[in-house]
Amino acid sequence: MSEPVLEARGLGKDFREGRSTLTVLSAVDLTVDCGERVAIVGASGSGKSTLLHLLGGLDQPTRGTVAIRGRTLSGLGERERARLRNETLGFVYQFHHLLPEFTLLENVAMPLLLRRGVSLADVRRDALTLLGEVGLADRKSHRPAELSGGERQRAAVARALITRPALLLTDEPTGNLDPHTGEGVYDLLLALNARHGTALVVVTHEMKLARRMERRFRLDESVLSPL
Ligand SMILES: Nc1ncnc2c1ncn2[C@@H]1O[C@H](COP(=O)(O)OP(=O)(O)OP(=O)(O)O)[C@@H](O)[C@H]1O
Ligand SMILES: [Mg+2]
Repeated sequence: MSEPVLEARGLGKDFREGRSTLTVLSAVDLTVDCGERVAIVGASGSGKSTLLHLLGGLDQPTRGTVAIRGRTLSGLGERERARLRNETLGFVYQFHHLLPEFTLLENVAMPLLLRRGVSLADVRRDALTLLGEVGLADRKSHRPAELSGGERQRAAVARALITRPALLLTDEPTGNLDPHTGEGVYDLLLALNARHGTALVVVTHEMKLARRMERRFRLDESVLSPL
């Protein structure tokens, strides 16, 4: 058996609110194997985004650990953690977070440009290929404001995939889309999973979309339980 791509143990997160403490996550355990597809559902405010940020190393847990490919994030320095993230993870945010002043091609290429030793020609070729895969080849010179909501989300997926991550974390990438366009984004995620073996952790509040994943969990009252 190969080592899991992601392993969270006893993960907890509290937020301080003046004198009181809000516990958003209690003791979350989650293991994701290479190529696995996992859905996390839960009501608005149940802590889904908080959990995904912890899993992706974008925020620090109050308790517990996250290991990416066997390396515990809290044991790494800032630089090493950033490198491990860049090499292993893709993140699609709840809101696309494309950079408005750059074209789509530039937005998609950005994560790879941050790596040392990659040639501009290679990055451009990879970014163009990915834009084709998400059906946006003819929009490469558009800026995010010149795209529809669904196109922006597909571009955000392409950007997350440019580094060929072993694990893609997506936070309601279809939250603002009509059901048909939302299904299209999921078709895309599943095709990428099938073709490249990219493990998926998708956060959604829609059971219909969650059912397309192999394993499902619900986050409720700060606890993650299998569905
Ligand atoms: N930085 C913060 N400081 C204080 N409280 C926070 C912070 N971030 C999140 N929270 C609280 O934690 C709870 C969970 O937030 P989170 O964004 O994880 O929910 P969610 O499940 O992603 O919701 P949604 O489905 O609406 O996106 C919310 O009640 C929110 O108010
Ligand atoms: Mg959220």
